[in-house]
Amino acid sequence: MKIPGIQPILLLAPVALICALFLAPLPAPQSAQTQSDAITVQVDRPGAAISPTLFGLFFEDINFGADGGLYPERVKNRSFEFPDPMMGWKRLARGEAKGSLQIYDAGSRSGRPNAHYLQIKADTGGGFGVTNEGFRGMGVEQGKEYLFSVLARNVGDTSAALRVEVEDADGKKLGEADISLSAPMNSYVGRIAAWKTYTAVIRPTATSGKARLNLLMDGPGKVEVDLISLYPKETWKNRPNGLRADLAQLLSDLKPGFLRFPGGCIVEGRHLETRYQWKTTVGDITDRRLIVNRWNTEFRHRPTPDYYQSFGLGFYEYFLLSEDIGAEPLPILNCGMACQFNSAELAPLDDLDHYIQDALDLIEFANGSAATAWGRKRAAMGHPAPFNLKMIGVGNEQWGPQYVERYERFAKAIKAKYPKIKLITGAGPFAGDDRFRYLWGEMRRLKADIVDEHYYMAPKWFRDNVGRYDDYPRTGPKVFAGEYAAQSSGRGGLPENRNDWECAMSEAAFMTGLERNADVVRMSSYAPLFAHVDAWQWTPNLIWFDSLRSYGTPNYYAQKLFSVHRGSRILSAQINGSAKNGQQNLFVSASIDDWTGEAVLKIVNAEASSRELRINLAGAAKVGSSGKAYILAGSDLKAENSLDEPTRVAPVERQVAVSSGEFTFTLAPNSLSVLRIPVN
Ligand code: AHR
Repeated sequence: MKIPGIQPILLLAPVALICALFLAPLPAPQSAQTQSDAITVQVDRPGAAISPTLFGLFFEDINFGADGGLYPERVKNRSFEFPDPMMGWKRLARGEAKGSLQIYDAGSRSGRPNAHYLQIKADTGGGFGVTNEGFRGMGVEQGKEYLFSVLARNVGDTSAALRVEVEDADGKKLGEADISLSAPMNSYVGRIAAWKTYTAVIRPTATSGKARLNLLMDGPGKVEVDLISLYPKETWKNRPNGLRADLAQLLSDLKPGFLRFPGGCIVEGRHLETRYQWKTTVGDITDRRLIVNRWNTEFRHRPTPDYYQSFGLGFYEYFLLSEDIGAEPLPILNCGMACQFNSAELAPLDDLDHYIQDALDLIEFANGSAATAWGRKRAAMGHPAPFNLKMIGVGNEQWGPQYVERYERFAKAIKAKYPKIKLITGAGPFAGDDRFRYLWGEMRRLKADIVDEHYYMAPKWFRDNVGRYDDYPRTGPKVFAGEYAAQSSGRGGLPENRNDWECAMSEAAFMTGLERNADVVRMSSYAPLFAHVDAWQWTPNLIWFDSLRSYGTPNYYAQKLFSVHRGSRILSAQINGSAKNGQQNLFVSASIDDWTGEAVLKIVNAEASSRELRINLAGAAKVGSSGKAYILAGSDLKAENSLDEPTRVAPVERQVAVSSGEFTFTLAPNSLSVLRIPVN
């Protein structure tokens, strides 16, 4: 089936990295020359409501987005559960100190998670033990507090002492603490060495982004250790096991309408065995089962052999984060299909029930009362009130009839029990190929709720496709532009892609098309969200960080302007007398904000020269004498932000003098301007 408005195009394979479009750069900056254009916004006839979920967030544990990122645990492989149990750890012997290390696995029979632990046997004094490197180094700040904890038992003959040290990359000590473990108790059944959690607070004397943690025995003895943690005391909303405050704040500042989690391809897994299973990510952290991160081995050019998912950040924490930032939670679940770019394994249809049961149980976990089995688990974790989950995604980038038959079974079971829950279904990995058209046809036939489209394309594609949704049918399934980002190289996810201003401006141009079509497009999100500057696999990304610092890209600020200034209802906007958006590189959308009584105009000038705009707010009985403009513009199209220059491309605010319903406004070259004008 052909979807109106969608032309067959060359497409990108985001994961397979198939080359598609070539970058067509915008014209080079010209000498300052001002062109004149007219925009007419029909203020007195608002159209469809704009969904509060129009602009949201896509979170995936890619690029060290969770462990080493939003989840601020400083110790990598804290429970020795990586397949190489000593990965991230090294033997440390001070001076002449001698001893040995031994890993134990207490779960080979029971199969219980977190069964590995380390025995440290010191033969001499002087300092023998281990050091942990963190996630490309540990970030610690002078004067802040870090909570060290370890699950330990003394299996030696006498009392033992553990020294905890935080030191910088040069070996300079930044903080330390001592922990003493009394000797095992004698009982009538023999000596009992009980596991116990020991804690200490460390306040570093200096800041370091590449610190490490040492755990040393001071004298001869034998201790066993597990769950070794160094955790910042200050977390987002100061929650225990909480999130990295600066990163969560950047998310919150976007005022996102929803939070999609946990991805992305990570939902699917390279194999079904390593798919994301939400039930293994909730409850006590010692009950959460570590698995390999599917991005660990995905890209040969960006290997990250130390990439695993500890699930310290699991589904409960995602729900909590959604609530904290005022976003609707949107969990995406595996539908019995592993990534079709990888193994493409299928769960047999007669073995699909437990996948479907996982979805039903998740809804109960989120919304059930504390009297239900899964609602009780949520309450026990600290949230007796329901999370009010309204939607759930079935599969990610699946395609083919095998997806349709699995989706149908999910839909039947979920709608029977929870008719109000909206289902998000996939449309494959591409913006308009045969798979995409086939799935859209099927989803219309099945009366699906919301269809998720993905496109990682060249910047020019975004400007050229601003009218993508103009001709979509106004009835039937709604659209979720679930993963998109302009790729400066023209190829999805490649290392040479940059988060530059041209990409951000092109996305902004495209977003005017999303907003104009808000009656069809209900949700959208840039992807991926996070990347560690030393540990990424995919680029571009919305937010970059190291162990201490973070910054929003120009793309982040474009998203922010659209999201924070989302209006309530669409207003029609004409450019030079025509309803066609994107003429002569001018892109416009308009809305009315019912809360503030303002007309909100979003205007992208994708020309290298400034432009004088005559703006007519047609039908406005009364107009306030001044409005506000938020302007985002790059000094050049290749301008980027960085850790050292985090706001090189960031919005500036200024007043706009408005004498009547008709006024002029000068658009800066290559800019996004958001105007808020009070109207009656
Ligand atoms: O955003 C990165 C990846 O791109 C996502 O995991 C996947 O859905 C898409 O192919």
